[in-house]
Amino acid sequence: MDWDQHYLDEHTPWDKGEAAPPLLEWLSVHPGKIQGRVLVPGAGRGHDAAAIVAETEAREAVAIDISSTALKLAKELYCDDRLRFAREDLFDLPEDELGSYDWIWEHTCFCAIDPGLREDYVAAVHSALSPGGHLLAVFYLDPYDDEHQPGGGPPHGSSLEEIEKRFVSSGKFKILESYVPEKSYSGREELEQVVLLKQIPG
Ligand SMILES: C[S@@+](CC[C@H](N)C(=O)[O-])C[C@H]1O[C@@H](n2cnc3c(N)ncnc32)[C@H](O)[C@@H]1O
Repeated sequence: MDWDQHYLDEHTPWDKGEAAPPLLEWLSVHPGKIQGRVLVPGAGRGHDAAAIVAETEAREAVAIDISSTALKLAKELYCDDRLRFAREDLFDLPEDELGSYDWIWEHTCFCAIDPGLREDYVAAVHSALSPGGHLLAVFYLDPYDDEHQPGGGPPHGSSLEEIEKRFVSSGKFKILESYVPEKSYSGREELEQVVLLKQIPG
């Protein structure tokens, strides 16, 4: 998948031009909860990362993406002293970033990567977090429609059973909260799951 080409072609159907409604919903229910450093992997044009610095007391949000075009567009949209955009691969984070994040916000990165890399994804977010850090995620469990079918994609679907197996049974995380968000982008209603996970050190 050539993500950069999609941004160059302005063919980015996942990008709704605004922060994810389940993120804004969670932030409104948990004011002041997110603090410290926040990583936003696969941040695209940065809507969620910008909302995180606007709505929380985070010291810094680092929005990473492998697409330099997405990051260029993000920088044109958003500017804040506490917001940093970086061309970084989640699977190859700089050594000095490992263990440095208090929170990670996951939205449409997990479903975008090849399902064969999901074990690597869990290992990557686990090692990016400081001990006991939090991964707040909205998992797009069922992205399938007439155009997108299982085995095609991205986006690649998932299930609660898979989430539990990969994150919890692996011994890397425990689940603190899990629910279907009331607010979603149009067309994603009832198809997403918000899951708050706490990293287990080790
Ligand atoms: C479906 S898009 C979602 C973008 C953004 N979260 C949004 O909802 O608008 C997936 C994003 O993940 C980025 N991406 C894919 N693999 C990545 C990786 N290994 N590390 C960092 N970003 C990655 C892509 O470039 C793309 O911007």
